[in-house]
Amino acid sequence: EHKHTERERERGEREMDSPFKVDILKGKVALLTGGGSGIGFEITTQFGKHGAAVAIMGRRRQVLDAAVLALQSQGIRAIGIEGDVRKREDAAKAVDTTVQHFGRLDILVNGAAGNFLASPEDLSPNGFRTVIDIDSVGTYTMCHEALKYLKKGGPGRDSSTGGLILNISATLHYTASWYQIHVSAAKAAVDSITKSLALEWGTDYDIRVNGIAPGPIEGTPGLRKLAPEEMKVKLREAMPLFKMGERWDIAMAAVYLASDAGKYVNGATMVVDGGLWLSQPRH
Ligand code: HXC
Repeated sequence: EHKHTERERERGEREMDSPFKVDILKGKVALLTGGGSGIGFEITTQFGKHGAAVAIMGRRRQVLDAAVLALQSQGIRAIGIEGDVRKREDAAKAVDTTVQHFGRLDILVNGAAGNFLASPEDLSPNGFRTVIDIDSVGTYTMCHEALKYLKKGGPGRDSSTGGLILNISATLHYTASWYQIHVSAAKAAVDSITKSLALEWGTDYDIRVNGIAPGPIEGTPGLRKLAPEEMKVKLREAMPLFKMGERWDIAMAAVYLASDAGKYVNGATMVVDGGLWLSQPRH
């Protein structure tokens, strides 16, 4: 049941089979910001394995090139587009390039995010703004630029069917999280954007807009930065449901939402965290 690729052996992870049919995203074209590394790369890979052509946007050429090579070696149609979601012209270039290359755009995944731990005393207003710029404004910018391709009747699609937007969020802002005032605010805005666009673009353009809020995922850049080893031990004591997830868990949620199985889901942010955020110490 479990096959091992070289990449996963390096990470010490299993490669798990998908419970979905391999062609459920066949013919679809996806653009993923932050899709070349971390959780984003696993979403990219699983979209590809389920039949989609994928374009990944990121700031680092080397990361993009390596990711595209790894995808293509698995028979996935993939391109990399260098760009920063903070620049409107980069966002426009990414959606245009995707459509020039693959003929249409069906799915936009906003996965690009900035992150670091900082207390409010130490976080300058510019540091706060930087994360808002990447996560919140970046997400909005990508959505805004992608609209013309995602809406019903857009290039390559019929007059009744729109595409999908998937915003990668977090659970930090459901309560309050230490040293994450900037990310919490940024992701709260992302969730709000998800709902507003689900209403307005769902109504006008048949575009579904959903989110995924991952819990702590093993071996990701986010976790390495945010939860050093000693913090994980403490978390386990304070939160009985603390258990690490795998990139695969998030990618399967994305595949579900992107497929026709999710066709009635709109404006929802799906929490995929093993129940962690609501867990309380026993007393
Ligand atoms: C305090 C910091 C800081 C830090 C940057 N700043 N890092 N302040 N502590 N560690 C402040 C700077 O002082 C500066 O403010 C402002 O932020 C801009 O910094 P730059 O270095 O110029 O920004 P930039 O080069 O654009 O870098 C963006 C970045 C960086 C977000 C700061 O960390 C980055 O790009 N990271 C890679 C992306 C990433 O981390 N991905 C993982 C996502 S995981 P001043 O006032 O000095 O000018 C994730 C998990 C979600 O999202 C949560 C799950 C639980």
